[in-house]
Amino acid sequence: TEKTYEHLRVSTPKAGVGFIELNRPKALNALCTPLILELNQALRDFQAAKSIGAIVLTGSEKAFAAGADIKEMQNLTFSDAYGKDFIESWSDLVTFLKKPLITAVNGYALGGGCELAMMGDIIYAGPKATFGQPEIKLGVIPGAGGSQRLTKAIGKARAMETILTGDVISAKQAGDWGLVAKVFETPEECVDGALATAAKIASYSQIAVKAAKEVVNKSQDLGIREGVEYERRVFHGLFGSQDQKIGMTAFAAKDKPKWTNQ
Ligand code: HXC
Repeated sequence: TEKTYEHLRVSTPKAGVGFIELNRPKALNALCTPLILELNQALRDFQAAKSIGAIVLTGSEKAFAAGADIKEMQNLTFSDAYGKDFIESWSDLVTFLKKPLITAVNGYALGGGCELAMMGDIIYAGPKATFGQPEIKLGVIPGAGGSQRLTKAIGKARAMETILTGDVISAKQAGDWGLVAKVFETPEECVDGALATAAKIASYSQIAVKAAKEVVNKSQDLGIREGVEYERRVFHGLFGSQDQKIGMTAFAAKDKPKWTNQ
């Protein structure tokens, strides 16, 4: 029951893997509101689908996404923006998503595009991936989490420099700074690498994967002591799952585990 979208291509190219390609080539995948609403829908569908264990989001070779749609924002007033909570449709883009999301970035990931890339649990980059928060050049600032996520990812000095100058970050620099988990040699390898990692994740117990994502994310909000305690509680909880018994019994018996996701 796959839906058709105007600005996305959605498929399941590998067992357990949901694949979303941004497809608005004329505007370098600029993230207009209709596109964001479609993306929300596609992510929600994959979140709800029992068979899907991980999701990959990518753009084109030229652009992951060149930002929020500037032409759509151009005439927006403060009252419009504040009153209608502009960008709110973005803020729940990933907050409901409990399944891992890998963003595979080729070409431009600027402004809202960079922010969207950083909403991924893992970011992979192709050789020409170009990250940046150029909002300053438009008389505004990042509005979909860029100032927070970029600073957490690469530290205050580098994030300040990036956001205050609007200068871009190359794929190599993004790799060196730890903004991305891996830099690939070709755009195809970047996407294939993301799909392979997603397939690997999807081959594990969805219960354990969900718990793993949850505890790593907690490290972003909690101090080390609370974080470690939180992790231990969730770890203890997994002894109530069938998959813990299945996984450990299979190891002891030299069998391959058959996960129930229970
Ligand atoms: C609307 C955009 C766009 C955008 C590109 N286009 N980026 N339209 N919003 N963010 C459109 C262009 O207007 C053009 O349309 C077509 O896509 C091709 O773009 P070109 O500029 O001709 O391509 P190129 O010369 O290759 O330059 C690529 C580029 C440049 C360097 C990425 O397009 C660019 O600087 N884009 C804007 C990047 C940016 O400022 N992003 C941040 C946006 S603010 P036509 O009709 O002329 O062919 C933001 C705020 C986020 O994201 C806040 C919260 C979400």
